[in-house]
Formats: sequence, C-alpha cells, structure tokens
Amino acid sequence: MAKHAEKYIETDGWSITEKGFHKQKNAVSESLFSLGNEYCGLRGYAEEGVSAPSLQGCYFNGIYEYARETHETAYKGIVKRGHYMVNAVNPLKTHILIDGRKLDTGKCALEDYERRLDFKSGLYTRSFKIKTRKGKISFVFSRFLSMTDFRNLYQRIEINSDFPADIEIYAGLDFGTKHGGKAGRWTKIASAADGADCSVLGRTQSTNQYIACFQRVQCDCGEKEAVESKFGAGVKISAKAVKSLQITKCVSSFADKTGEFGERLLKDGKPADISYEDALKENKRYYCDFWQKSDIEIDGDEENQQGIRFCIFQLQQTYHGIAPTDNIGAKGLTGEAYSGHAFWDTETYCLPYFLFNNLAAAKDLLLFRYSTLDRAKERAKELDCKGACYPIATLNGGEACDLWQHASLQFQPSTGVAYGIMHYVNVSGDVEFLTECGMEMLLEISRFLLSRGDYGADGKFGFFCVMGPDEFQMMVNHNCYTNYMAKKTFEYTVSCFEKYGEWESVKRLGVTQTELESFSECAKKMYIPYDEKTKLFEQHDGYFRLPHIEVKDIPVEEFPLYYHWSYDRIYRNDMLKQPDVLMLMLLYGGDFTFEQKKANYEFYEPRCIHESSLSPSVHSVLASELKKHEEALSFFGFASRLDLDDYNRNTCEGLHTTSIAAAWLNIVYGFGGVRSDGEKLVINPSIPDIWRSYSFRLNYRGSTLTVEVRKGVAAITVSDGEVCAVVCGRETRLSGTKEFAI
Ligand code: BGC
Repeated sequence: MAKHAEKYIETDGWSITEKGFHKQKNAVSESLFSLGNEYCGLRGYAEEGVSAPSLQGCYFNGIYEYARETHETAYKGIVKRGHYMVNAVNPLKTHILIDGRKLDTGKCALEDYERRLDFKSGLYTRSFKIKTRKGKISFVFSRFLSMTDFRNLYQRIEINSDFPADIEIYAGLDFGTKHGGKAGRWTKIASAADGADCSVLGRTQSTNQYIACFQRVQCDCGEKEAVESKFGAGVKISAKAVKSLQITKCVSSFADKTGEFGERLLKDGKPADISYEDALKENKRYYCDFWQKSDIEIDGDEENQQGIRFCIFQLQQTYHGIAPTDNIGAKGLTGEAYSGHAFWDTETYCLPYFLFNNLAAAKDLLLFRYSTLDRAKERAKELDCKGACYPIATLNGGEACDLWQHASLQFQPSTGVAYGIMHYVNVSGDVEFLTECGMEMLLEISRFLLSRGDYGADGKFGFFCVMGPDEFQMMVNHNCYTNYMAKKTFEYTVSCFEKYGEWESVKRLGVTQTELESFSECAKKMYIPYDEKTKLFEQHDGYFRLPHIEVKDIPVEEFPLYYHWSYDRIYRNDMLKQPDVLMLMLLYGGDFTFEQKKANYEFYEPRCIHESSLSPSVHSVLASELKKHEEALSFFGFASRLDLDDYNRNTCEGLHTTSIAAAWLNIVYGFGGVRSDGEKLVINPSIPDIWRSYSFRLNYRGSTLTVEVRKGVAAITVSDGEVCAVVCGRETRLSGTKEFAI
C-alpha cells in the first residue's frame, strides 16, 4: 500500500498525547482530540482561537441545512437539493487577554505544550506555559462532554502566573460559527445574559431546527459583566493584578430537530446544576463500566493497542443508541467532510460492533432506516422504479448525494439494509422486530430490486448500468456484488415470508404469492459471473478484458491519485478503489470455499489501491482467514491507526469514523475468526506472531463470551448460560471456560 505513517502522537494504551505544539498538524489534532456523546460532537479546537490551521467545529446529530437548489439540470432522478450537517453553536467561545494582549498559542513563545485525551474519562486537557517579558504564565484548559446527561458540556480554564497580571476572559456562546468557511448559517433568535448565566437560541436558515444553549460560569475572582452580541451572549471577567484565576463553565444544549419546540426551548431549559467534579466522576464511572464490557486487550503490540482503543473510544463517543433518529456519519461528528452523511457503511461496517456490544443501539440503527422508509420509496419513484431505494448519503433519509453516478447507480445501501436486518435477526433472534418492521423493509427493497433489475438479451437476470462498492467502475453491467447481494436479499425476503407470512403483523403488508414467486425466480436466474476453472468471480461483465495496471509500480508521490491523475484515467483500467468481490466474501463468508477466497484475494488485492479507508480491514479479515498472517497484521496496523498516524493525509477534515468501526471488525472477524452470517456463531481464532495475547468480548443471546487468545490456545469463557457455536471448526456447547488448541 502506497501510504506511510506520520507519527506524532505518544504511544500509550489509555490515552493520546501530543507533546509540543505541532502547528501545521493543528487541524489533525483537532480531529483526533474530538469529544462526542452521539448528541453532540466537538472538535478539539483551542477555544481562545489560534493562528494555525483550524476548524472550530461543533455538530449536533441530525441538525442540518439544505444546500442551495441546483437548477443546472432538470434531469429526472438527479438530486437537486442536498443537505449537510451544519456547524452549529460554538459553546466555548473564549477570548483571553493577559495585560491587554490576546492569548494566541500560534504566536507565543511556548513551553511544555501538551494535549491529552483520556479514554477512561473522556477528559481532554491542553496545557502549556507562555513566556512574557515579566515572567511565565501557565494555562490548563480542560473539557468533557457528559456521557450520561448528554446535553451537558463542562469546561475549566486554570491560569497561574509568576507575576501579578491583569487577566480578562470572555466566556460565551456563539452562533456566528463558520461552515465551509462561511458564517451566517444561523439566525440568533434570542439571547439573555445576567451575571454569570446566559442563554442563546439559534435557528437554522432552511430547515427550521433550533438549538438553545444555557451557560453557567463560576469564577474564583474578578468582576463579571454580562455581554450580548450579534450572534451570542456571554460573560466578561476582569481580574486586576492576580497570580491565579480559575473559571469553570457548564453549557447545557437542547437541540430541536423538528422545530416543534422553537422558542419554548428557552422557557423550558436552564443550565445544569451538577458540579464539574461530580460530572467528571460520573463520566469515569461510565467509561469504567464501558471498558469492562467492550475493551479489546492486546499484549505485545503497544501501537495497535492504542490504535484499537482509540477506535473503540471514538466509536462509542459517536454513537451508542441514545435516539433512533441518530445515525453514524462517515466522519462522525468530527468534521464537515462527507457533509456528516451516513452511508452503506452503517449496516456493513458499523453494525457488527453494535450487534455484539450494544444490541439496542444496533436495533436503533435499523429503526432509523424503518422511519425513513417513505423517503426511500420516494427515491425509488424518482428512479422510475418500485419499492424502496435507500440513499447513498443521508442525514434525514432523503438522498443527499448530488453525484448522480453514485446516487442513481449504487444499490449497496439498499442491499446493505437487507443484510443488516438479516444480521441483526441472526444475532438477536428478535423475530418481533423482523415481523413488525424488518419484513416491510425487505419487501420494499426486493420490490425495488425487482423493478431495477432486468433480463439481458442472453436471458441472464441482473443489474445493468450500476456501480458496485468499487467506485472506480461506473455504469457497469452485472456487477458481481450487486447481483449477489440482490440474490441474497430476494432469497431472505422469500424465506421470511414463508416462515412468518401468516402472522397478523405481516399479513398487513399485502404481499402476493405471485410477487414472492417473481423474487424467487429472479434469485434463481441471477447471473453471477464466475469461472469454475480459475475460481474467479468477475467483478462485472467485461472486467477481465480491461487494460491492466500494475498498482505496485505507481510512484508513492502520485497518491492520492485524484490529485495527480486526470479523473477519467483512474477509471479506464482494472485498478480497484476498494474491495468489491472480496466484500461479498466477507459478508457471506459461509457461501464461498477456501479455494475461492484464496483465488479471488490473490487476484483482486494486488489490483486494489485502498483509496477508501474502509478497504484495509476487509483485506485484513480475509488475509487472516487465508492464513496470510503478516499481511493481515500489516493491513490491521493501517486500519487501527489510520487517523492517529494520518495515513490518508486528510484526518484534518475529520476522523474516518466508519473505518474506525471496521478496525473492531478487523480484530474480531479477522484474528478472532468470528462469523455471524450463518445460523451458528463461528469463532476460529489465530494470533499474529508478534502478539503475546489478545482478548475481546461478545454479547450474544443474553450471554457474554470472553475470548482470550494466546500462542497455540484460545480460552472462551461464557458468563451466564450456554452458547452453541462452531469453534475451531467443531460444533461446541460453550459454558464456563473452555480451551481450544489453535
Ligand atoms: C467509499 C464508499 C463509502 C464512503 C463513505 C467512499 O470513499 O468509496 O464506499 O461509503 O467513502 O465512507
């Protein structure tokens, strides 16, 4: 892989620390040191502002704006008005003046600069000293978002000076934030400031959503003056000739996604009464409990230990199921790239983590799709089809991707939802969900696939003019992934109706026998391009005849290719952006033989440039299965430290949150050899050479399984009850602790 690490974060198992101010990497650090609690996400920016690359971002799950309508094209089916997650209020608007001079770490002489984010509490601290003519002044900025009272954000600023200094601090709330470099996305509706308390209410311009924030500030000295401004309100604290000063601030934010509460938010809300210390203790308790349930321990590889904990911590911050209207954007709540949109990544890359760690959250992710089924139906109509077509990129369920090749030709979100339903039901056994919500989605997705698919002149059924997961191949016929996923969707839909068709909750769906027969017929006739002699699945009809490119010969300086190759040059050969056929072999692993996986891995991997951050983990999982252990570990290192080491040189724009989820999948499905697409849970562990041991946990059907793997042996402990699984190739009843030779 033509990528290399840019390491500047200290290695530690339970935290990330930046020592010394890496000014040019400031925006990267802001992403890495992001805080979140699903409700809200806050980049790790310097609240007082800094002369360095910076994006002061604060985002709320489900708070968005419509993009400007495009009138350039009237073509049917092309998205005319997208939407994007909008940078919201700056809850930490701060100015600091020392003896009349503005504090700016981009311009000061600094000593002992350090940023630290602690995975055991979610506390982010930034500390440093500045040198002035009169002496030194030290600063400690701390902040955390409550994981339990998710509306609350806490901040503390401690200043200690060698000499008596005049200190002025403004601490406020501000809707003048910039999005995409432009301000003015919010209208301030009201504000009030009274001594140490203030409040602000803002409204989005086009979506009529509101955010109200309430601030309370405590300060151990100085005079307080309440201030109101065009976009906000706050308090100015002035202290004369002091050697130390501490302010503590709590902000409670209320987001109204539907516009239902509007100005009432101000009347009903107030700042939280709970103290900084108590709230921090509560966060520590939360994380202590969380890590007990969800930690992955690696002995013998500190860098990957830190990498995987960072991934799990950030994933938990982004989403843990507080509301079924929330989803997981490709960049979580950490930046503006990908407009905050959720993709097929949710069901294919993120869902497995929640299936085994937090089943209720997994269900909520599927309920999000259920609640947006009507939008998916509208989208199918726009594409001249029937049923429901789920969007490639969305915040509210509507299609937001204005690149028509993606929005009109990629169906992996729809087949991904069907896969997610199957996967969830497999792991949870939740037939009630299946019959009340799941089957309706399956039926509508199948209707869509039936109407979008067609028979070619040769009588083969499949999908024409599509784009599979490998986005370097557009408008292709019989993309193997799309055809196969559709086949499985039809089959699963039919099997569910055969089993539960007579249930009252299912009868209301009004499916006819003829319709079910057409699903079965199309599944049977689905063309899957496969060559028995070579055991290769052809990525699409004609792929094998494309000009070949030796990916390994592309000079490293030419990456990312988008910036160095003309757009069409990337697309007119057999180079892959990300796994396509191999993705199938991960999702439906049980359907393919070892020989097929090996042949396809060895054929497709060398053709893949891993331009998508989702790519390495899939390759790592398959490499493990194929006993290519070194390759598996090297791909894993990339997946687990993708952002920490800024491999793709774009972490400044936000974390690769869905790839972070894929890193969990990488350990559990890769080294752990877990498979959950069949009826029985499969566990088939291996261990990389350099690791002494590793362990992970799975919650499965009411039991907790702890899998501890050492050289030559895997110990599986089941607390509460018994689990039937296929371990190391043998069907086994697991209870208590059992050891298996590996
Ligand atoms: C990938 C898609 C993915 C999206 C969001 C793109 O670069 O090609 O498969 O859904 O990023 O992560």
